[in-house]
Amino acid sequence: MNKRIIATALAGLVAFAMVGCSNSGGAGGTTSTSNPPASGTSTTASSSSKGIPNCGTIGVAMPNKTSSRWVADGNAVKSQLEALGCTVDLQYAADDIPTQTQQLDQMITNGVKLLIIASIDGTALTAQLQAAADKGIKVIAYDRLINGTPNVDFYVTFDNYKVGVAQAKSLLYGLKLTDKDGNPAADAPKGPIDIELFAGAADDNNSGFFFNGAMDTLKPYLDNGTLVVKSGQTKFEQVATERWLLINAQTRMDNLLSSTYGGNGAGLKGVLAPYDGLSRGIINALTNVGMGPTIPEGLPIVTGQDAEIESVALINKDIQFSTIFKDTRKLAAQAVTVAQAYLTGGTPTPNDTKTYNNGKKVVPSFLLDVDTVNKDTIKPLLIDSGYWTQAQVDAGQA
Ligand code: BGC
Repeated sequence: MNKRIIATALAGLVAFAMVGCSNSGGAGGTTSTSNPPASGTSTTASSSSKGIPNCGTIGVAMPNKTSSRWVADGNAVKSQLEALGCTVDLQYAADDIPTQTQQLDQMITNGVKLLIIASIDGTALTAQLQAAADKGIKVIAYDRLINGTPNVDFYVTFDNYKVGVAQAKSLLYGLKLTDKDGNPAADAPKGPIDIELFAGAADDNNSGFFFNGAMDTLKPYLDNGTLVVKSGQTKFEQVATERWLLINAQTRMDNLLSSTYGGNGAGLKGVLAPYDGLSRGIINALTNVGMGPTIPEGLPIVTGQDAEIESVALINKDIQFSTIFKDTRKLAAQAVTVAQAYLTGGTPTPNDTKTYNNGKKVVPSFLLDVDTVNKDTIKPLLIDSGYWTQAQVDAGQA
């Protein structure tokens, strides 16, 4: 093993140990770096006290604060970098592209040593990334790929295609077409079962991956007529949701209910929703026309993503069926591992060098796995791991 590999491996260990330490903070809280490490984490204590020599300031750009996941991501990245001795300039852009480009311009002018960016529009940052490259600033795309530029060095994310597969599998399970493990259910309904589809923002590279993963999984059921998209809207462009906004999903669902489901939702059994904020907008539309108010009382199966606390509370009350849990603490730890490798002169190790072509190059990536959460897995996946507390789930807020 050469020194570089050892350094990278050590960085991974530090970040991994820090995930454990940050559990007490969970998704809702900021993790305090001034607290002493919990017992049994001596690796963290000794390694992080060394930290990154002359780390300087790291720029961290996040899309918005309205979705709790990005707040959790920002807090986790910040606290983990600070524990290594870095200063962090963390900025949120209120989902406004010019705000995000200005924030990046400012960070580059201020002399940040590295950038970690969760973009709003994956194609809008070419000029900023060129300026960063000109100054030798490494760029890590965080969760969302940045397209159309050679100047993105690494991509850390969850396996976005698998997220879509998991959402579709959850819809099939909720509709009782499969069992929990994805096997065909013995007493599966014959269909046709009416469903509707939603996708994310068209300018977010992830949206297509989610949608393709879901559609590949639903295809056999759509092809043989077990599932029917009654509106006929099955193309990505028809079902995409601008800026991932709750209100846009709610409005489209309102329109579908009046155009296709007799104004009261008659016959609609399931909705593929790719993000908890959209799920809640869709559920608002459904309950506004008198459906439900719970799944046992006739509310359609609605999927989700991100394990946002408001949606976890709805899942706990049988209102939303599922969500996909992406542990932001682990993604933050991976981003920090990659940052540490670059800042100490090493090369980070990808686990995927094929999937993410941004139009200029295939960006070396590190993909993490996700879990599906239903009512019966809130405790093992979210509460026992310290992501949310039972009290937060009961209250529906962080
Ligand atoms: C993220 C999802 C999130 C969505 C909306 C996507 O890029 O990967 O986790 O639900 O943006 O914020």
